[in-house]
Amino acid sequence: MSQVKLLAVFGTRPEAIKMAPLVKSLGDKRFPFTIKVAVTAQHREMLDQVLQLFQISPDYDLNIMQAEQDLAQVTVRALEGVSAVIREERPDMVLVHGDTTTTMAAALAAFYSRTPVAHVEAGLRTYCKYAPFPEEINRHLVGVLGDLHFCPTQRTRENLLAEGVPAERINVTGNTVIDALLSVVQPDYHFTEPELDGVNFSRRVILITAHRRENWGAPMEDIFTALREVVCRYPDVEIIFPVHKNPRLRQQVRAILHGVPRVHLIEPLEYAPFVNVMARCHLVLTDSGGLQEEAPALGKPVLVLREVTERPEAVAAGTVKLVGSRQENIVAGVSELLEDDNLYQQMARAVNPYGDGKAVSRICHALAYYWEFSPQPPEEFDS
Ligand code: UD1
Ligand code: UDP
Repeated sequence: MSQVKLLAVFGTRPEAIKMAPLVKSLGDKRFPFTIKVAVTAQHREMLDQVLQLFQISPDYDLNIMQAEQDLAQVTVRALEGVSAVIREERPDMVLVHGDTTTTMAAALAAFYSRTPVAHVEAGLRTYCKYAPFPEEINRHLVGVLGDLHFCPTQRTRENLLAEGVPAERINVTGNTVIDALLSVVQPDYHFTEPELDGVNFSRRVILITAHRRENWGAPMEDIFTALREVVCRYPDVEIIFPVHKNPRLRQQVRAILHGVPRVHLIEPLEYAPFVNVMARCHLVLTDSGGLQEEAPALGKPVLVLREVTERPEAVAAGTVKLVGSRQENIVAGVSELLEDDNLYQQMARAVNPYGDGKAVSRICHALAYYWEFSPQPPEEFDS
């Protein structure tokens, strides 16, 4: 084949961040790939922030987001929309990322048209059906639908091997999030965002994000109440909380934390200022997936607001700890880190189990090998 047409499909903020460096690289002329981009826009504003930063103009924008959409609606709209794009473009391969509903629906649309699927960030598992929900099952489904699997770590590769995926269809590449992170973190980054004006970075800054479906309702109430308790207990602590656009969360956050001194409830930040805030904060509290990968690379301790994680590598390295979503456990976990300097220093070591910044290059190379443009597969990321 002289030219291979790839169609990258994504729809939410984290997929866009992690696919952007790959899309940019596949677009250069090193390999005979034509790359087309379709966004479902399962997210709107939070996706557009990323497209703008990385200067990506999608070839197709399905614009499916609706306020308070449910999983079935997103699935149906993404499946129909991506199927139509595949019918029109007739790509040789569809590239999807991670575990969202867009990911699962795009892989299914590709399967229905008998188009091979490559899965970026493959093999992450908790083996708990409802945690994270629905992402755990989305990943399993794409594991079955996929033809090529780009695993970030050895452990994720082992998960796929144990599930019967042939070894020659798996490449351990590292996570593209580290490539993205390294492209935007700068030691002398100058913040121009008005929402950060009131933040006193000479205090101990806790950066928090929370949005997971399994934490909606009572667990979120516990999380937000724990934050209020922490800030009251420690007068030298400031909290920065860029609040996800989901209206269900926003109402609850406001009800508990609006007007609390030293708590900055702000709009989602663009990726560059966000990770540069992370680079300057004292510690991170999150139920997000991506932050569990980024913060260890920046030497920031992370307390994870979940009962289980599909990213156990940084837990094993000692820089990430699971505290769950109960108020007393969160307050205890944060207090320990704020009071015990030895413990803090042990967790505040920069570790990079998720990548070395070369994941994109390995994925391009692996695709070139699959399509017989390269005689050998890439060397693996040694996690
Ligand atoms: C989705 C993914 C989740 C991922 C997360 C990243 C699924 C099932 N969930 O969850 O895996 O971790 O994105 O953030 O795929 N909204 C806006 N503007 C935006 C984005 C969202 O207004 O730019 C609001 C809308 O009301 C939307 C709601 O948030 O209906 C929920 O968005 P949705 O994509 O369904 O779920 P997330 O919780 O964002
Ligand atoms: N992020 C961002 N701005 C914010 C909050 C997060 O750019 O205000 C980035 C963050 O650095 C990470 C990604 O968004 O790369 C994580 O997205 P999210 O938490 O929405 O999804 P998850 O990782 O849980 O799937």
